[in-house]
Amino acid sequence: MKKIVLQTTVDVFPDLAALSPLDRELMEQARAALEHSYSPYSGFRVGAALRLTNSQIVKGSNQENAAYPLCLCAERVALAAAAAQHPGIPIQSIAITAHYPGKLLEHPISPCGACRQVICEVEQQHGQEMRILMQGDVGEVYVLSGGKELLPLGFEGGVLER
Ligand code: THU
Repeated sequence: MKKIVLQTTVDVFPDLAALSPLDRELMEQARAALEHSYSPYSGFRVGAALRLTNSQIVKGSNQENAAYPLCLCAERVALAAAAAQHPGIPIQSIAITAHYPGKLLEHPISPCGACRQVICEVEQQHGQEMRILMQGDVGEVYVLSGGKELLPLGFEGGVLER
């Protein structure tokens, strides 16, 4: 028996002001995306913003449905919008934030497992990792170098090849 150790590295910035101007702008765009969250069931608003390698920014927010399993996460809404509107353009970074009225979110918001899987697939499609930035309403910003940091040993489409 042998062991393999899978490590995740997170760069932790104390607040928004500590980010580079481009990263700060992207997180601010994610926060602006909260405005269009449709979340009447959970009340939990999530915003995401992508910076494409051609510098364009694409935003997404969570879109819920009375049939709960149909709820769409902000990250996947943004990633699908980018694929539909800017096909073939790799994504440099994704910023994710959330707002839950009545509760101050003081810790970074981390993508759900399904979104991690989709982030990894989009990276593979483009042959390029995307940086992942996360923040709550306030406080520390986590920055990761790519989806693998969030989903080690993920399922990869390559196994479906014959
Ligand atoms: N949500 C996201 O938009 N992104 C995530 O990564 C986790 C959860 C949304 C789905 C649902 O509308 C609400 O947050 C509560 O789960």
